[in-house]
Amino acid sequence: AEIQVARKSLLSWYDQNKRDLPWRNISSDNVNQKAYAVWVSEIMLQQTQVATVINYYNKWMQKWPTLEALAASNIEAINEAWSGLGYYSRGRRLFEGAQKIVKEMSSLMPATAAELEKKLPGVGRYTAAAIASIAFGEVTGLVDGNVIRVITRLRLIGASINQQEVIEKIWSLANQLVDPKRPGDFNQSMMELGAVVCTPKTPSCGQCPVNKLCLAYKMVEFDKRNSAKRV
Ligand code: ADE
Repeated sequence: AEIQVARKSLLSWYDQNKRDLPWRNISSDNVNQKAYAVWVSEIMLQQTQVATVINYYNKWMQKWPTLEALAASNIEAINEAWSGLGYYSRGRRLFEGAQKIVKEMSSLMPATAAELEKKLPGVGRYTAAAIASIAFGEVTGLVDGNVIRVITRLRLIGASINQQEVIEKIWSLANQLVDPKRPGDFNQSMMELGAVVCTPKTPSCGQCPVNKLCLAYKMVEFDKRNSAKRV
């Protein structure tokens, strides 16, 4: 029951508060085209802030609107388009991946998280889950830095245990939590919450759609009441 409340609260908060970002407005109803656009955005967002990515993303999609267009490009043009973003291997891997998809996969993006991770250079567990859930509607959770913070606070998970074990635990919780009807929006709602409400310093708990379910919030509120009594 609590899990349904969490899903519903997060999704309606996301519907009302999500930032209007270009990769969230892909007009195409072609899922392969949508997957290409999500792939580009997620690779750019790996090590670069949203505000910086917006312009680069728009220019890239204008220059190479399709996988075929990208595959027909050359490394000099790719590096030029990437100039200023840093970590140039990311652009190179997009280019190499597009060539592989066009040559070996009839221009069709792999359509599951497992295949995306296996077949595309530079696509790890997070990026594979992002593309699969957002573009293809695969019911898979995902974990990035924002999601780690949101889940460890919600469930009051300390960082004391073995780090890799904690990360695995968070992946497992993210997979239990993801909404089976809207996995892509749900995953983006978790990232969005971490980016704008459940921030590293001074989170805006009063604005949080799941504060009533949050163990970290409960603890902080309890402490406040307790110290108030002592004054
Ligand atoms: N960071 C990386 N990908 C994101 C997305 N799709 N939504 C919000 N933040 C993100």
